[in-house]
Amino acid sequence: MKFRLVTAFLAGLTAVAMVAAVAQKPAGPQAQAGVMTVYKTPTCGCCKLWIDHMTAAGFQVRAVDMEDITEVKQASGVPMRLRTCHTAIIDGYVVEGHVPADLVKKMLAEKPKVAGIAVPGMPVGSPGMEQGSQKDPYDVLLFDKTGKTTVYAKR
Ligand code: CU
Ligand code: CU
Repeated sequence: MKFRLVTAFLAGLTAVAMVAAVAQKPAGPQAQAGVMTVYKTPTCGCCKLWIDHMTAAGFQVRAVDMEDITEVKQASGVPMRLRTCHTAIIDGYVVEGHVPADLVKKMLAEKPKVAGIAVPGMPVGSPGMEQGSQKDPYDVLLFDKTGKTTVYAKR
């Protein structure tokens, strides 16, 4: 009798743990390991170019067109001042804006305890924002859930 109770208790714990694990996935039911989901508006040209950049770097990308992506940014916890044209989710991390593919790879390998990585402001010369040879210097930032940012790289 005691044994059966313990078994039932353990089964209950496992069920709770599984529910918790599912609840922590930030990207919704379609989230798939290794696949990047990019939320963008249908008319955004620079978003398409950024997706090309990511695909060329070996990322598997699923693009989702939305009229308004504010909700996605809100749900993903992207700080207001970092918000830009598109928001991507991969392996539980948020990628906001024109972040270079090599830095996304670096972050996924290093697994820092942050919410995501961002390049605010669509700087000219960032991937998908090329305009001839013009290259405006920009910071690539990591951000956490409280909105705190740290410089991850300077480009
Ligand atoms: Cu853009
Ligand atoms: Cu974009």
